[in-house]
Amino acid sequence: MNWRKLWKRRTERPSLSEEGIPYHVAIIMDGNGRWAKRRGLPRIAGHRAGMESVKRVTESASEIGVRILTLYAFSTENWKRPEQEVDYLMRLPQEFLILELESLIKNNIRVCMLGDLEALPLWTRESVLEAVEKTKSNTGMMLNIALNYGSRSEIVEAVKKISDQVKAGTLQPEDINEQTLSACLLTNGIPDPDLLIRTSGELRLSNFLLWQCAYTELWFTDVYWPDFRKEHFYEAIHAYQKRGRRFGGLK
Ligand code: FPP
Repeated sequence: MNWRKLWKRRTERPSLSEEGIPYHVAIIMDGNGRWAKRRGLPRIAGHRAGMESVKRVTESASEIGVRILTLYAFSTENWKRPEQEVDYLMRLPQEFLILELESLIKNNIRVCMLGDLEALPLWTRESVLEAVEKTKSNTGMMLNIALNYGSRSEIVEAVKKISDQVKAGTLQPEDINEQTLSACLLTNGIPDPDLLIRTSGELRLSNFLLWQCAYTELWFTDVYWPDFRKEHFYEAIHAYQKRGRRFGGLK
């Protein structure tokens, strides 16, 4: 990096208004494989580098006052990848939590998990649940890791729960509303994301928080996830602060 360019980029960093900090930011961390390929490295090297971005963005989000950060670490569709890559992706959360747990606790961050944890390898499940347990009393930012998460299956499971209640006679079909369904999702009690970031230039939601993102502001960048830095995060927040959210109404 040329120093003049670096200085220019630093001084151009947008100033953030504290008032408009999104309460909940969700991120689709994409582009690890392409980042690695571009360097002639195996795909897992991209995921390893992606873990460093997880650390950086967790720090930045907590620093500026984001209350919930939801990261898409592994989707229900990612099992289709080669076994070696899946194994590595299953080990990364464990590695991240072993390396970072102390600092997460020091920074008052609460780790939560989103997804079907039952299907995870035992060592992955145990390590993530340990982090959840050890940080459960923290009152700062919630770091919500979506692991083996798929939005469509989450919605299907919610519909099954509702059907069971109707069958049992504890819920009348005419009483079913949006809150009924929201309450049966894995995100029950968590406000919908205000801002969703996707890296690597792909412009889709990939089965992530489909119900919850109905009114979420979307921000896309061409930057690959391992290259994602604090300034890119600030850029997204700054763009969010300039949006007018109307939720279908008028300003
Ligand atoms: C998508 O890139 C990324 C993933 C499927 C995994 C994301 C996981 C991490 C960043 C690991 C760390 C997670 C935690 C919470 C510690 P891709 O492989 O689809 O990239 P490509 O589209 O370029 O192939």
